[in-house]
Amino acid sequence: MEEEKKSAIVKVEPKPRKGFIAIVIDLLEKLLVKLFHNSKRPHHYLAGNFAPVPDETPPTKDLPVLGYLPNCLNGEFVRVGPNPKFAPVAGYHWFDGDGMIHGLRIKDGKAAYVSRFVRTSRLKQEESFGAAKFMKIGDLKGLFGLLVVNLQLLRSKLKVLDDSYGNSTANTALVYHHGKLLALSEVDKPYVIKVIEDGDLQTLGLLDYDKRLSHSFTAHPKVDPITGEMFTFGYSQTPPYVTYRVISKDGYMHDPVPITVPESVMMHDFAITENYAIFMDLPMYFRPKDMVTKNKLVYSFDSTKKARFGILPRYAKDEKHIRWFELPTCFIFHNANAWEEEDEVVLIACRIEKPDLDLVSGALKEKLESFANELYEMRFNMKTGEASQKKLSAPALDFPRVNENYTGRKSFVHVVDARTMSANPIAVVELPHRVPYGFHAFFVTEDQLQEQAKL
Ligand SMILES: [Fe+2]
Repeated sequence: MEEEKKSAIVKVEPKPRKGFIAIVIDLLEKLLVKLFHNSKRPHHYLAGNFAPVPDETPPTKDLPVLGYLPNCLNGEFVRVGPNPKFAPVAGYHWFDGDGMIHGLRIKDGKAAYVSRFVRTSRLKQEESFGAAKFMKIGDLKGLFGLLVVNLQLLRSKLKVLDDSYGNSTANTALVYHHGKLLALSEVDKPYVIKVIEDGDLQTLGLLDYDKRLSHSFTAHPKVDPITGEMFTFGYSQTPPYVTYRVISKDGYMHDPVPITVPESVMMHDFAITENYAIFMDLPMYFRPKDMVTKNKLVYSFDSTKKARFGILPRYAKDEKHIRWFELPTCFIFHNANAWEEEDEVVLIACRIEKPDLDLVSGALKEKLESFANELYEMRFNMKTGEASQKKLSAPALDFPRVNENYTGRKSFVHVVDARTMSANPIAVVELPHRVPYGFHAFFVTEDQLQEQAKL
């Protein structure tokens, strides 16, 4: 019984309100877009291979394979990314699209391809209206941003949109824990995806850990390969700005541990070691006032502020023993790994010196190369309180992965040139459809696939 309670999946059944009020707000939106939005700004992130695919692809079996798929390689490779089902009303940011998972089911030397939307509350509601209705990050700029926020609030208040299941797109990353594959985005709760034997992907609902989770949940939780625990956090625009959580191997979410940072920041990733959790308070501030008065995106980088790293004993019940370290200013989307070496905690991170989120909103012509992410080794001495860093790579390097059996443990970083890293691939699988650029991927092993089949 207890076990059943712990693994309860919340069915997502939003009830948006259609009718007169919804139509009036739509008209108001049209007017505001006409008056305040520059429709000449190109949607760079809806063009080329960023463009969404309009339809899902049911499992397509026995794909042509050039070469061979080894018999030991069984499971499903899944990658999630933004794939907006409906055209945006105004602006569009790369982070805005509905999550679509592309899966390659590999078994006994054969391959099948499937693509499915994560059936979020947001997608279900927009499907019922047949149009985009939720606020987009790409619109959160300048005065128009303020108007868009108020339109969203109005739709929620008048129950045109039902926000009782959150506003997630689940478009960012995938993780496997406690017998479940989870689709994540950092503004909401995890969605549970069931992988069917033929490779199909079915959204079962969302996880609130028996109502113990009431804040957002990072797209990059860490699963300890030895203890089977999952470590996670959520960040918020209201205090506490950061909340740390530990989820035991059996799926029980422990009490929240609020982490104090001076201002609300964007915190995309964190890290664990055998004994610590590492939080990154980097100066990518949530500043709605600057959005309106300085015509900036709602998150903006302040290069005059230092990068701060908070290291907390990982089973701490409160933040009393957190140690904060400072390094030169930067932003970090992703860490590769972290571990302990004598008195030091070592963090390997993709560091960006001058980030500008506007570059991914499609407003500017610059490509992602302008991010110039570099791999860095950062060291924090728990005895002396000193912090240091050194560069490990040239730009651009991001979306790092380590063998997850080494999460939180010392691992070696091999930096390779992506143009020459491999000999010829042993197999090339021909896909029936184009796969747009996306975010993070995960390999569901055959053991995991069979374990979660019981869901
Ligand atoms: Fe990420």
